[in-house]
Amino acid sequence: MAKVAVVTGSGGGLGKGIAQRLAKDGFHIVLNDINQELLDSTLKEFKAEGIQVEGVVGDVSKREDQFQLVSQAAEAFGQLDVFVNNAGLEVVGPFLDIEENQLNKAFSVNVNGVVFGTQAAAEQFIKQKTKGKVINACSIAGHESYEMLAVYSATKHAVRSFTHSSAKELAKHNIRVNAYCPGVADTSMWTRIDEEMIKYNPEMKKGDAFKEFSSGILLGRPQEPEDVANLVSFLASDDADYITGQAIITDGGIVFS
Ligand SMILES: NC(=O)c1ccc[n+]([C@@H]2O[C@H](COP(=O)([O-])OP(=O)(O)OC[C@H]3O[C@@H](n4cnc5c(N)ncnc54)[C@H](O)[C@@H]3O)[C@@H](O)[C@H]2O)c1
Repeated sequence: MAKVAVVTGSGGGLGKGIAQRLAKDGFHIVLNDINQELLDSTLKEFKAEGIQVEGVVGDVSKREDQFQLVSQAAEAFGQLDVFVNNAGLEVVGPFLDIEENQLNKAFSVNVNGVVFGTQAAAEQFIKQKTKGKVINACSIAGHESYEMLAVYSATKHAVRSFTHSSAKELAKHNIRVNAYCPGVADTSMWTRIDEEMIKYNPEMKKGDAFKEFSSGILLGRPQEPEDVANLVSFLASDDADYITGQAIITDGGIVFS
């Protein structure tokens, strides 16, 4: 029986790349996104490629949506094996300017979303009495703390901490929890970060912030979704069965920890 993986926020960006790779690895895939249109178009694309796939629209920051997502995945394919808490969003700007609603939204999606997703997935794994894997989107900003990305960095540090503590609590249930920490990938998230950053620096033009952040990458190029998917593929595989509670950096050489 094929294994089943849920990837949140997989209508586009890194999540879509991860879902494509896990499909290649032989998983049945459940896509999720808050953006119905994006989800539908990715779902269509996956189906055209012959992938066994379902799509569930939902907001990861809502606990009931996350439990609904897991229950629809189990209903569609009979079980759950891997749950990737990928959905996340950025907040850009000097923290002195950050407003309460921005702070709440960032924590609600990036942190609450990961906690609810892990609760929903773990409950299903425990019910199934099977091995389970939770894989969280952290970031280099979960290891290093960046100016202009203070709130975002705080949410990703929280994800790294929760990866450690949930791994400790869930090991006795045969559940591993790990995280992938990407560097600088040219997704719609970075398009928005770039737009915001240049507002604070009149000498910068479109693309300059992205260029500046990626200029120091040792391996000489920004990250592609496939680079991130390679790590997630490994973490989702049996080869990673002896790894839990780790937040592993994949950034081409930016942050060293
Ligand atoms: N792009 C990077 O350079 C980078 C670096 C480090 C970490 N990350 C992390 O990787 C993850 C994916 O990033 P990305 O660059 O692909 O972002 P993205 O903005 O390009 O894509 C995120 C996807 O998540 C969806 N989404 C947003 N809020 C949601 C919600 N509440 N519920 C369900 N879906 C939601 C969006 O509609 C979108 O399709 C994020 O957690 C991000 O913090 C990205």
